[in-house]
Amino acid sequence: MRKIIIAGNWKMHKTQAEAQAFLQEFKPLIEDAAESREVVLCVPFTDLSGMSQQLHGGRVRLGAQNVHWEPSGAYTGEISAAMLAEIGIHYVVIGHSERRQYFGETDETANLRVLAAQKAGLIPILCVGESKAQRDAGETEQVIIDQVKKGLVNVDQSNLVIAYEPIWAIGTGDTCAATEANRVIGLIREQLTNSQVTIQYGGSVNANNVDEIMAQSEIDGALVGGASLEPQSLARIVNFQ
Ligand code: G3P
Repeated sequence: MRKIIIAGNWKMHKTQAEAQAFLQEFKPLIEDAAESREVVLCVPFTDLSGMSQQLHGGRVRLGAQNVHWEPSGAYTGEISAAMLAEIGIHYVVIGHSERRQYFGETDETANLRVLAAQKAGLIPILCVGESKAQRDAGETEQVIIDQVKKGLVNVDQSNLVIAYEPIWAIGTGDTCAATEANRVIGLIREQLTNSQVTIQYGGSVNANNVDEIMAQSEIDGALVGGASLEPQSLARIVNFQ
C-alpha cells in the first residue's frame, strides 16, 4: 500500500506568529482524519523550529522547502540537511519549479539535494513538471522522464516522494484535468524501480477539486500551495472523500 500524503507548501508566507495561529485552528480540524493519511506542512525556515516544538508528538509533520547538498562549509545563506533533521523535520521539498525558475536549480543540483536529504534521514519530495510551452510543443512526456531520471541518479527509492506539478497549473487556478494528471503520474511510476513510491499531484489543488484528484488510481496525495494557507481550506483537503 502506497502512503497517502497531503502536504501544504506555504512558500514565502507566514511569520512565526501567523504559523502558530494557523496550527491552533488547524490541529483540531484534522483530528478525525484517517490515520493512514500523512499530513505535512512545508514552511519557511524561520517557522520550522517553533512549529516543531508546537507539534511535538502530534500527527502533523514538518517539511522544509529547500536544503543544500554540502554537510557544512562556507555557503552563506544555506541550510544543511543535518540542521533540519536536528530540529525534528521529516520532509524537504526539492527542485520546485519556482526554485528552478528563479534560483537556477537544475536536475543535477536537485539530485545532489535529494541525496543529501536522504543521507540525513529526511524524506525528499522531488518536484517535476513541464511548462506550458513544453506541453504545447508535445514535449511533456520527454521533459518529465528526463527530470525524473536525472533527479533520481543513485537515489534510494524506498525513502522518496515525487510531486508532479505542471508549471502552468501552479497558482493559476488552471488545474490539470485529474485524468491527465493520473496519466502523467502513471508515466512517472513506469520510470521507477520501486512501485511503492508516493507520487503527489500539485497545481491549483483546492477544497473543490481534491475529491476528483484523489479518486485517481495513480495519485497518492497532493502538494498544495495557495489553498494550504488557510486552516479550514487545508483541513477540507486533508479530509478528502
Ligand atoms: O508546491 C505547491 C504548488 O506549487 C502549487 O501551488 O498555489 O497552485 O496550489 P498552488
